[in-house]
Amino acid sequence: GAPVEVDISRLEPGQLINIEWRGRPVWVFQRDERALQELEELAPRLADPESRVPQQPQYAENYHRSIRPEVMVMVGICTHLGCSPLYRPEPGSSDMGGTGSPGGFFCPCHGSRFDLAGRVFRNLPAPTNMEVPPHFYIDENQILIG
Ligand code: FES
Repeated sequence: GAPVEVDISRLEPGQLINIEWRGRPVWVFQRDERALQELEELAPRLADPESRVPQQPQYAENYHRSIRPEVMVMVGICTHLGCSPLYRPEPGSSDMGGTGSPGGFFCPCHGSRFDLAGRVFRNLPAPTNMEVPPHFYIDENQILIG
């Protein structure tokens, strides 16, 4: 499959762009300061907080799993059996556990939950963090996926 270009010049905090790459959904979304801070604090609740299972390119081996901290790029497929998780960026959604829960993704098929870096919470069916596809910045506003 050919690489796909994504324009993020109009991407706002919380917004998610859904594109198709090699027949799979790829999500590009922006995290605000609060969400980034939350990512640092979630480690004890995650199955693989440092993403030791290589589900991302080397340049995304950090707590935010991305090149630019605020911009996340990931494959929108649950690592359990391939359903499409629901985007719940606001803290406290009932899908993510209600009051006090962080923003993230909820898989409606068997209940796996992921944080806003696609890292899976402990003791859920999904075995690994969600996948970060190879990508790079052509310039400040253009990402090439693939
Ligand atoms: Fe997502 Fe089973 S497919 S939890």
